[in-house]
Amino acid sequence: MSIIERAVGRIASTLTPNSRGPESAAASMEGPRERGTRNLIEESIDRIEASFDRPGKRPSRMQIEDDGPATVVGSQQGDVDIGRLKEMGAVTPDSGRSKVAEEYRLIKRPLLANAFGHGGAERVRNGNLIMVTSSLPGEGKTFTAINLAISMATELEHTVLLVDADVSKSTVMRYLGLNAKRGLIDVLQNPDLPLSDVLIKTNIAKLTVLPAGDSISHATELLASSSMKHFVRDIASRYPDRIIIFDSPPLLSTSEASVLATYMGQVVFVVEAERTPQDAITDALAHLADCEHIGLVLNKVASGGSGGDYGYGYGYGGYGEYAPEQ
Ligand SMILES: Nc1ncnc2c1ncn2[C@@H]1O[C@H](COP(=O)(O)OP(=O)(O)O)[C@@H](O)[C@H]1O
Ligand SMILES: [Mg+2]
Repeated sequence: MSIIERAVGRIASTLTPNSRGPESAAASMEGPRERGTRNLIEESIDRIEASFDRPGKRPSRMQIEDDGPATVVGSQQGDVDIGRLKEMGAVTPDSGRSKVAEEYRLIKRPLLANAFGHGGAERVRNGNLIMVTSSLPGEGKTFTAINLAISMATELEHTVLLVDADVSKSTVMRYLGLNAKRGLIDVLQNPDLPLSDVLIKTNIAKLTVLPAGDSISHATELLASSSMKHFVRDIASRYPDRIIIFDSPPLLSTSEASVLATYMGQVVFVVEAERTPQDAITDALAHLADCEHIGLVLNKVASGGSGGDYGYGYGYGGYGEYAPEQ
């Protein structure tokens, strides 16, 4: 049994089986501070990371040539609405040692270790390309992507680019209190449009955002297009030392999300506590079978549980790769 299967098993044991169908997607903002994301199998992370050092790993599906860094800076400036983030219960630059900030420190640690080879971990190919996804709408992909981006940008040396790739249901800009007309869709449709024209440099130091852009009817299909593949390759070579986080559509709603996942070095898979049906998790993870590095985040966990049996989860491992000794 792989580590991710074990993680799913433990996460699933906290869930209500089949408690929600895909149609009841919307999650509520009610009681954001009573919810959280905590580290479920943190004790496994060191072992898992060590396992990545062993030979015979599968190569990533997409080989990205490093053309060397280029200095691309967003020409637009936008002020993130920090007050709104606080109301949502999200990480903010001044979160300090708040619960949510602590939780995201734990979540980002293995991601950064893989991306940059910190703490003795092997640097994962394209490990700086991180996609946040989930089975269904409303589970907390955007919330997680924003929290990770702000946490990484405010506490580390790394510059973060947050890409809103949930192009048909984009909410990144609204959550951040930013406005922009053009973005990823426009770049994909018009290769002559310079990326720097659509990037938004924010008032959070080291955080740049690429909006989804103008919505069009076949927007999601673009994610699986060769333009998107070239875009990811291009952006990875422009920003080899930056973390690039892709907020993405749910895996069970659109086949394009699983194609996008194959371009990434790492995938963060969000599960909504007590809501995501177990069969949805299993089905969605099957869509990620080609991805080597998948982390799990159990989101929206009610507080007040009894320690490790309740509450939270972040599993991390190479899907189908890591076979822990029992
Ligand atoms: N851990 C959390 N605590 C409180 N509210 C949350 C949490 N995660 C998500 N939400 C809220 O749930 C709703 C759905 O989250 P969102 O990130 O938009 O889901 P998705 O991107 O998966 O569709 C939003 O209103 C968001 O603010
Ligand atoms: Mg979203």
